[in-house]
Amino acid sequence: MGAAAHRCPRRRLVRAIGLLPAAAAMPAALVAGVARAQDDKPFSPFITTPGNTVMRMLSIASVGKGDHVIDLGSGDGRIPIAAALKFGASGGGVDLDAMLVELSNRNAAASGVGDRVRFERGDVFATDVRKATVVTLYLLPPIVQGLRPVLLRQLRPGSRIVSHDFPFEGWQADASETFFAPEKNDGRGGNSTVFLYVVPAEVHGRWAVSWSGAPADSLPSVPAELRLQQVHQVLDAELSLGRQVLEVRDARLAGERVRFTVALPVRAGGPPAAPWQFEGRVEGETMGGIARNDRGVETRWQARRTAVR
Ligand SMILES: C[S@@+](CC[C@H](N)C(=O)[O-])C[C@H]1O[C@@H](n2cnc3c(N)ncnc32)[C@H](O)[C@@H]1O
Repeated sequence: MGAAAHRCPRRRLVRAIGLLPAAAAMPAALVAGVARAQDDKPFSPFITTPGNTVMRMLSIASVGKGDHVIDLGSGDGRIPIAAALKFGASGGGVDLDAMLVELSNRNAAASGVGDRVRFERGDVFATDVRKATVVTLYLLPPIVQGLRPVLLRQLRPGSRIVSHDFPFEGWQADASETFFAPEKNDGRGGNSTVFLYVVPAEVHGRWAVSWSGAPADSLPSVPAELRLQQVHQVLDAELSLGRQVLEVRDARLAGERVRFTVALPVRAGGPPAAPWQFEGRVEGETMGGIARNDRGVETRWQARRTAVR
């Protein structure tokens, strides 16, 4: 969707995706809140995520005690409040609408989680989410798309993002679920889809790889170079041993966990023999872990980035 869509009159945008409940069903203060929003900014109206969808959003992200959950465009605060009440997390949210922020803080206090959950007035595009381990969204596509670089810049690898109904274009979800939500469409019911994205480590570039600990006759002892091209968590990889270029299969990132499979020769220049499955963890400019072949032989491996491109 282009910039023009960001400036669409709000109601037209809302009608197009069938999100707006009958005005009569919305508290007058909330109708006023929607009416106050500026048409020249990307905006999503206040529509609540159904109760069962809130629970599925938090479950798909495996929210737990140590998590800090920030809902961008937090409405009445139900998602961070449920994260604190049902899963023991802390968190909060931001919303443009001051009345909704006030209502959310009242709801948090009334639920007994006011000490762990705080809501503030703010624009989602100007929000500091560095503290979040989980970010939740129920916002229209132009906003979801616009937030992608903001989130990737701020969130640590392994953080989870869960979007209700609207996926990030060009970013394959790590998991998604579609199910019936009885509260949707003013109680007439409808489907909800939740999309989970795990923020991947940044690994693009060339890596000098070495291994140690395997029997001498099972792996070549020449310098290896791993070349990685990355689009979010999807990797395109090849590994070279001197002049020999080997195909790397099933390369994948999940947060800071990396894995790939490559059939390595026993000697440099020899034919690829056993496939080795590499698994490890990325820490900035280094990564490493354990590799195993299909006969159960193990080696430690480590890699250091030598070039970003
Ligand atoms: C569809 S509602 C979702 C409410 C809540 N997150 C939920 O799932 O129940 C979208 C909310 O985002 C807020 N909002 C829209 N655009 C925003 C922006 N640019 N910055 C902050 N809040 C925004 C609206 O006021 C509204 O409360």
